[in-house]
Amino acid sequence: MADIIDGKAVAEDVVGRVKALAGEVAAKGVQPGLAVVIVGEDPASQVYVASKSKKAKECGFHSVQHTLPEETGEAELLALIGKLNADPKIHGILVQLPLPKHIDSGKVIQTIAPEKDVDGFHFVNVGKLGTGELETAFVPCTPAGSMLLIERARGKDLSGLTAVVVGRSNIVGKPMANLLLAANATVTIAHSRTKDLPAVARTADILVAAVGRPEMIKGDWVKPGATVIDVGINRIPAPDKGEGKARLVGDVDFAGASEKAGAITPVPGGVGPMTIAMLMANTLVSAFLAAGLKRPTF
Ligand code: GUN
Repeated sequence: MADIIDGKAVAEDVVGRVKALAGEVAAKGVQPGLAVVIVGEDPASQVYVASKSKKAKECGFHSVQHTLPEETGEAELLALIGKLNADPKIHGILVQLPLPKHIDSGKVIQTIAPEKDVDGFHFVNVGKLGTGELETAFVPCTPAGSMLLIERARGKDLSGLTAVVVGRSNIVGKPMANLLLAANATVTIAHSRTKDLPAVARTADILVAAVGRPEMIKGDWVKPGATVIDVGINRIPAPDKGEGKARLVGDVDFAGASEKAGAITPVPGGVGPMTIAMLMANTLVSAFLAAGLKRPTF
């Protein structure tokens, strides 16, 4: 049976360190500040945003939330971002995605100042990660958190190990592949058009699943002893729990995969808690850099 990687415990470690460092920088007169912006009433997004704002307060940050109505115009949103870019009390800006269809998300993301882009979605940060400039880049929170879990299982140097990332999104798959490459792994990005996906997955010492399809990755896709990181969070019907009830599952068939893997993240309680923890870490880093202090590492 595989070791279960406790993402909740690692996330608590990260948040504990963020709180301690936020206290240190506060003593120098700088309070890290995070602005979270949400447009519209999507219930899942509202839950995510509320927990981000709450965690920021818990870390001792200056935490502001801008909740804008669905019909907010693009120009109005861009003007708000302009104000936040210029506000010295704000070190991190996060605009929750997806945005309503009448707003160009790409334009919105590229308007955020790169040094406040704690999501790591701006071209400047994407380019820094792609060229290995990790000292000054902001890395997207979910892959950054997944990488910390991989480091705990395998160490920081992945030389000689094969990594397969299933999924090629800009938010997870591509930055994840770049992080693994920067750690010296031999990396393959696989996706829905890959020929014989199970065979490719079976080559992986480190298998990262980020496809958004419930339990797609089966036990017999997993190389014995592999580290399996499940980024998926899928809500599926659970009639056994009662009518209309649902449960959360990952992109990996946990029962099957945990018989083969050396270590595996559960859903919930694996990568999920790491995402918010890394958002706090990125905001803290931004405050340190703005104050001219040495960048803390996690
Ligand atoms: N929506 C889902 N995940 C994310 C994320 O990591 N950042 C933002 N801004 N929106 C999201």
